[in-house]
Amino acid sequence: MNKTEIIQKLNLTQHIEGGYFAETHRSLQEMRTQRDGEKRSVLTSIFYLLTDDSPIDYFHKNKSDIVHYFHTGWSITYLILHPNGRLEKQKLGSNLAAGEVLQLVVKGGCWKTAILEEGEYGLLGESVSPGFDFRDMQIADESLLYEFPHLQAEIKPYIQPSYVV
Ligand code: GUN
Repeated sequence: MNKTEIIQKLNLTQHIEGGYFAETHRSLQEMRTQRDGEKRSVLTSIFYLLTDDSPIDYFHKNKSDIVHYFHTGWSITYLILHPNGRLEKQKLGSNLAAGEVLQLVVKGGCWKTAILEEGEYGLLGESVSPGFDFRDMQIADESLLYEFPHLQAEIKPYIQPSYVV
């Protein structure tokens, strides 16, 4: 299948971070978080797709650990910016011999960006607990550049342009 057929088949829509997504599961069971004591679904899961015409999932972070699962297509590069300023690079894909990983955990509090460097599309899954909620996520703006001045050149291309004044 090509990217257009995948978008239609999986009912994907454009994501504000870039790329396309669809929520595939939101548990009816709820929990209160240790952070703010407010209610969240226990678990959510999504499909997430990057394509050659929307190849960047711009820097953002979530308060909870997120597990990423490679599904199909071309591999996807992740840059993970840890709170201590370490920039980690990982490739989510199926070429295990080349060091790609089928699953990738990004810890809560780490900034992440995902990039489709080649190919028509890369499709992955993401699961998070407590379930996804906009109260728990933040999209990076240019203040990230001042928080990590030693990494400006590496991270600037992956800050959403509409968040840079
Ligand atoms: N709604 C908008 N963004 C997201 C996301 O990343 N995950 C889920 N589950 N829902 C969303």
